[in-house]
This record gives sequence, structure tokens and C-alpha cells, in this order.
Amino acid sequence: MEHIFDFHNLSAYRGRTRVFDGFDLTIRKGENTAILGPNGSGKTTLMKLISRELYPVWSEESRMLVYGRDRWNVEELRHRLGIVSGDLQQEYSAQARGNDVILSGFSSSIDVWPHQVFSAEELERAVALMRELGIEELAGRPFGKMSTGQQRRFLLGRALVHRPEALLLDEPTSGLDLPAIFRYLDTVRGLMRAGTQLILVTHHLHEIPPEITRVVFMRGGRVVADGGKQTMLASALVSELFGCKIEVVERNGFYQALPGEQVL
Ligand SMILES: Nc1ncnc2c1ncn2[C@@H]1O[C@H](COP(=O)(O)OP(=O)(O)O)[C@@H](O)[C@H]1O
Ligand SMILES: [Mg+2]
Repeated sequence: MEHIFDFHNLSAYRGRTRVFDGFDLTIRKGENTAILGPNGSGKTTLMKLISRELYPVWSEESRMLVYGRDRWNVEELRHRLGIVSGDLQQEYSAQARGNDVILSGFSSSIDVWPHQVFSAEELERAVALMRELGIEELAGRPFGKMSTGQQRRFLLGRALVHRPEALLLDEPTSGLDLPAIFRYLDTVRGLMRAGTQLILVTHHLHEIPPEITRVVFMRGGRVVADGGKQTMLASALVSELFGCKIEVVERNGFYQALPGEQVL
């Protein structure tokens, strides 16, 4: 059985902080998965390991396979995985125009170079993506002058230029208003229906689209629980994960977290 990720006994540092110590996780190809955990549990660090912005500290039993391989040309890897993170949004060049944000996905850069040449196909792909994402009118606007939601859509378009097999999103709706959240849900659901695998890293239940089947709980740099979505998103388990009383409600496949007890 092919895995998109097969990670075993990984350790990783952020600065001097040991974030992962013996981290294990396997996700099958095509398995739409949410990784849920409180702030500081290591979710973003995991994304950075996958995108190779950060490297693990190896021990003898360590294994870090992506699509069954341990060696990757970073460019090639980025063609197969579309990644959108909050860090990328912060680091992205404020001057870059919308159209160039999308095109920068072809070189995985944070803007295009002054004389960078794109093929007619690449230019068309950028226009088609902006149309699909409803952002064509913003093609000429600098990234720094877009709303958070608009920036997020451009970065999603950037991640999609190569038609990746899987999309990895880190807290995709943080800072978005309700219409933008619903739009995000519509867009990712469409992509999933078209066969794109979604790996979602979050602490928000409302970002989890109904098509997600598996939920992995992370805390303190470890996977602490893992299973089918309906089993995992039970009030008792979610309360234990976050360390407070939470009532989880489900409606039509969508989830929300409510305070588990009234504090007056
Ligand atoms: N640049 C950094 N230097 C030192 N420690 C960091 C750095 N970035 C994150 N950390 C620490 O790593 C841990 C995991 O962080 P992170 O992966 O961002 O968690 P999450 O995304 O789940 O909120 C936290 O304890 C955090 O304080
Ligand atoms: Mg994070």
C-alpha cells in the first residue's frame, strides 16, 4: 500500500527547542486527513519538515519517506505537494502583483524575477486559476494591499499551478471572515472531489471539510491519538486533547466546538 507520508522516530529542533522526539506518523495515499492539536503542539514544524524547510535529526531507526522515497529534489517534491502556510503569507513579498504570486508557484519563489520568462501555457494556467478562485480582478494588485482572505486565495492558486496530487494546508481559515471561510470550504471540497488529497493541519474544527475521513491528534510533538473522524471528534476526546471542556457539535458533516460548561 502506498503512503504519502511514512515517518518513523523523527526528532527535530526549532532553534534550541526539541519539538519532535520520536515522532511517528503514516498517512496513506488518498487518505484525507486532519492533524489537530493545540498551539505549540508541533503542527507547523511538521509542515516544515515535509516541505524541507527544516531537517530532522537522524537516528538509526529514523525514516522519513514521502511517496515511498527518502531522497527528493525539492523542486520535484513541490510539484507533487501544494503547500500553503501562514509563514509563507508573512514572508511573501508585499510588492508582488497578484498574477505574479500565482506564477511564482512555478519556481517556488516569493515573487517573480524582473525578467523571468513564462511559457504561454504557464501564463494561461495562472489566468485559469485566478478565474477558478474568483480573484481575476485582483491580478494587478500588490500582495501587501490585499485582504488576508484574498492573499490566502492567491497562495492557494500558487500552490495549485502544478496540479499537485496533495494539498497541505496549515490553519487555512485563520483571519478569514465567514464568507471567506465558506468559500475556502467550497474550493477545497471541489479539489478533493477532483481527486486532490487534503492534509490539513489545524486547531479549528470548523475548517475540517466533510470529506476528511481521518483525524490525528498531536500534542507536545507527538501523535497522541489517531482514528476515524467520527470517533475522534467526540466531545470527550477533543476536550482531553485541548485540556478544557469542549462540546463538539456536528451538522451535515461539519463540526464546531462550543464551551463545554458555562462559565459565569
Ligand atoms: N523559531 C523557533 N525557535 C524556537 N522554538 C520554536 C520556534 N518555532 C516554534 N518553536 C517552538 O516549537 C514548538 C512547536 O511549534 P509549532 O510547530 O509552531 O506548533 P503549532 O503549529 O502546533 O502551534 C512550540 O513549543 C514553539 O514554541
Ligand atoms: Mg502552527
